[in-house]
Amino acid sequence: MNNQTRLPRAAITGLGVYLPSKILTNQELAKIVDTSDDWIVQRTGIRERRIAAPEETTLSMAIEASKQALASARLGADQLDLVICATLIPEHTFPSTACLTQDAIGATKAGAFDLEAACAGFVYALSVARAYIVSGMAKNILVIGSETMSRVIDWQDRSTCVLFGDGAGAAVIQAAQEGDTAMGEIESVVLMSDGAKACHLMIPAGGSKMPASEQTVRDRQHFIKMNGPEVFKGAVRGMADAFHQVLKSTNLQLEDVDLMVAHQANARIIEGVRSRLDLPTSKVYQNLQRYGNTSGASIPIALYDAVREDVLKEGMRVAVAGFGGGFAWGAAVIKWGKVTV
Ligand SMILES: CC(C)(COP(=O)(O)OP(=O)(O)OC[C@H]1O[C@@H](n2cnc3c(N)ncnc32)[C@H](O)[C@@H]1OP(=O)(O)O)[C@@H](O)C(=O)NCCC(=O)NCCS
Repeated sequence: MNNQTRLPRAAITGLGVYLPSKILTNQELAKIVDTSDDWIVQRTGIRERRIAAPEETTLSMAIEASKQALASARLGADQLDLVICATLIPEHTFPSTACLTQDAIGATKAGAFDLEAACAGFVYALSVARAYIVSGMAKNILVIGSETMSRVIDWQDRSTCVLFGDGAGAAVIQAAQEGDTAMGEIESVVLMSDGAKACHLMIPAGGSKMPASEQTVRDRQHFIKMNGPEVFKGAVRGMADAFHQVLKSTNLQLEDVDLMVAHQANARIIEGVRSRLDLPTSKVYQNLQRYGNTSGASIPIALYDAVREDVLKEGMRVAVAGFGGGFAWGAAVIKWGKVTV
């Protein structure tokens, strides 16, 4: 037996989501900005998105998704070693949304921190969780992606406000028992970044460079600014490359992948990735038509829906990829285990 076989495996054992009940359709959006259902559907594939009510926040959604994920994994919150919350719009600048979630769900023995990798946050958090488990530093980890995008969207900017939606997804990651194949495995994760492209997707104000002031508010600098075509190109190239790299790292071929779940930003981006990989459309999962781009929450929400719809089943191999501001992106290959939602 070599050392490799003795390393603990990390598996996704539970999933949960929270989606605000308020639906904003393309037709309703067309009453707010100069756009149309046709334009949005053709350029993005999005038909509607969820919008948080005033009392719904990144924290409240994270808590509900977390409770559901723990129930799905049949794990008590007090068994958690770590809570990681991937978010670009945290409850506060500090303390972390992860700490507030830790308290609310009763994860009394867990460390907690936020992770900021924008729309790639969930994949980045998966890699951290996997590393903690494989190294033996933790056994039970809660990874959350929660985003209240509606609070940082410029509702006067039609090129961005049609794209995003609110929601949260959470996954329980556990050390798999030796010989328990039903638990599945996060087989590999790769991460990449290119900070030279940071200017193409950002919220300029509110940090140390441009603290909040009357001027920053007047200049609408607290909202998402995006260079759409640059982000589009980066996302297609980045996610396709990340899929190739993660498969290479596991000596797997594309034929070994049963389902691809790319960040749910835009149907044309997903199609671009699919065609670069030459994957059949039947292997591509998409739910962005219902929720728009929920940033770091998009992958766990898509995994949850895919399980619920019986598209993702025990024994399948799913490849996920995230891409977002930074630019930061990455991919993971997951042998899917028994997950009940
Ligand atoms: C935003 C995006 C959909 C725009 O699509 P596009 O095909 O690149 O469109 P363009 O930016 O070239 O704009 C084309 C025209 O549509 C207009 N337009 C932009 N948004 C519009 C909207 N919501 N409704 C109607 N017209 C719109 C533009 O003003 C432009 O008009 P012009 O030619 O008269 O100047 C596309 O660039 C995209 O998806 N980028 C990535 C966005 C993303 O996923 N970001 C998050 C990643 S994590």
